[in-house]
Amino acid sequence: MPKTAVYRPKSYSLSGLRGISDKTLETHFKLYEGYVKQTNALNEKISDLFQRGRVDQDKFPDYSELKRRLGFEYNGMVLHEYYFENLKRDAGDDPKKSSAFYRRAAASFGDYETWKTDFVGIGKMRGVGWAICYEDPASGRISNHWITLHETGNIAGFRPVLVMDVWEHAFLFDYKPAEREKYIEAFFANIHWDAVDKRLGRSEGR
Ligand SMILES: [Fe+2]
Repeated sequence: MPKTAVYRPKSYSLSGLRGISDKTLETHFKLYEGYVKQTNALNEKISDLFQRGRVDQDKFPDYSELKRRLGFEYNGMVLHEYYFENLKRDAGDDPKKSSAFYRRAAASFGDYETWKTDFVGIGKMRGVGWAICYEDPASGRISNHWITLHETGNIAGFRPVLVMDVWEHAFLFDYKPAEREKYIEAFFANIHWDAVDKRLGRSEGR
């Protein structure tokens, strides 16, 4: 089997965010790097199971188990990259009314406030996971989804537009587990709306 791609962790300069401490971020970067490492390790192990272009029958349970874990590790890597990339220092709270995202939210939800209520509502859901706003590339419409862990609930082919980590480690040193709402407020104070706009396709979503 040809060697698979080796992923390298990206680095982010996000110190000085509002309401999300540098200490939390440093811990979070380390967790993210762990997903990159585990993704590479899994690919390596799977590759090693191939002998002369095939997997031996007695290795097939190992192969299957490793393959099942790819969704968790890959999404753990990729979703953290979307998350860090949609944060920035000195951000404004809500997007500009003239921005692509603001207009898209209005086209898909009636108005931006309704979109936000839905997205925040998902972020407050009990459980370990993510709130993600996706764009359907076929229609341009955006919709909000709950993702359990990293992999259950992602919509194939939809483009992540705004990604919010709501695992407790995302606010570990800043808020108590029961204070997720405060973390969500802090997240909104640091959204890099220009980066979010760039993720949207050209369709207006009507
Ligand atoms: Fe995370």
